[in-house]
Amino acid sequence: MRDGSDIALLEVRLGAVAFEAERVQSYVLEPLSGQSLPPFTAGAHIDLHLPNGLVRSYSLLNNSQERYRYVIGVQNDPNSRGGSRYMHDTLRLGEILTCGVPRNSFALYEDAPHSVLIAGGIGITPLLSMIERLATIGRSWELHYACRTRARTAFLDRLQQLAGDHPNRLHMFHAGEAGGERLDISTLVSRASPDAHLYCCGPPSMLAAFEQAAANRPAAQNHVEYFAARDAAAVAGGYHLVLSRSGQEVAVEPGQTMLAALLAAGVDVAFACTQGVCGTCETGVLSGVPDHRDAYLTETERATNKTVMVCCSGSRTPMLVLDL
Ligand code: FES
Repeated sequence: MRDGSDIALLEVRLGAVAFEAERVQSYVLEPLSGQSLPPFTAGAHIDLHLPNGLVRSYSLLNNSQERYRYVIGVQNDPNSRGGSRYMHDTLRLGEILTCGVPRNSFALYEDAPHSVLIAGGIGITPLLSMIERLATIGRSWELHYACRTRARTAFLDRLQQLAGDHPNRLHMFHAGEAGGERLDISTLVSRASPDAHLYCCGPPSMLAAFEQAAANRPAAQNHVEYFAARDAAAVAGGYHLVLSRSGQEVAVEPGQTMLAALLAAGVDVAFACTQGVCGTCETGVLSGVPDHRDAYLTETERATNKTVMVCCSGSRTPMLVLDL
């Protein structure tokens, strides 16, 4: 793991933890004394470096005007790879943590005449800061929020406050409750006004349904944020990496990701999620054609083949020359 020598990192203190819903807690990260935190925009995330060595990406859910705290929401995932379980079970108030500066790959289009936000479970977190922003600037919005049960529905009080005099802006779906309604993404998208911007964040099945339903809408008005891998990592191997700055060559063997091969060769490369969703490992490509497996780059960005997410993507050519 890179030590941060060429990545902006900052120290924060865990100032508060709050129960938000079954298996969901919020965490308030505060600057060390007398400092303000770097600014962020609605939809942004940070990479949090945990004391157990893991790095995880979390969306900032608080008001993007705030400089005195970052607030994240974490669901204790039964299939946790170690991040969310550590956050829930081990992290203690007052601990000093390291995080990257906020980055935004899920930006809000503030000038849209109307915004339709679609959340599944903990996918509500980036949308919450977007709604904060839309409410602040007086823009029109509606939220469709699917959670299995009411008990697992986080941040409902805050959402109701933000809806204010327009409670009809909130549409809740609890398919796990007796008589609960299921969110029909296809119908919802088909009814959205042509000039609306649509945002979706949730589990891969929801995002796939959204992308299919929105395929005929203008791509620039459809926005998704993945929390987990969209495609399986490319591990076929059988190609070489050439690192342009040093001239070093690294063979990627069958069963390896590009990242695993680079780390095994002692190459200093930044990474966090290892699932192609956070963008931390984005690396310039000077020659060759990547086999993109991430959920971070847009289709247009993928087509240029100018960068690659080395944690999960592979190569379609026998050699890739990387800007490393
Ligand atoms: Fe997150 Fe590669 S480490 S996209």
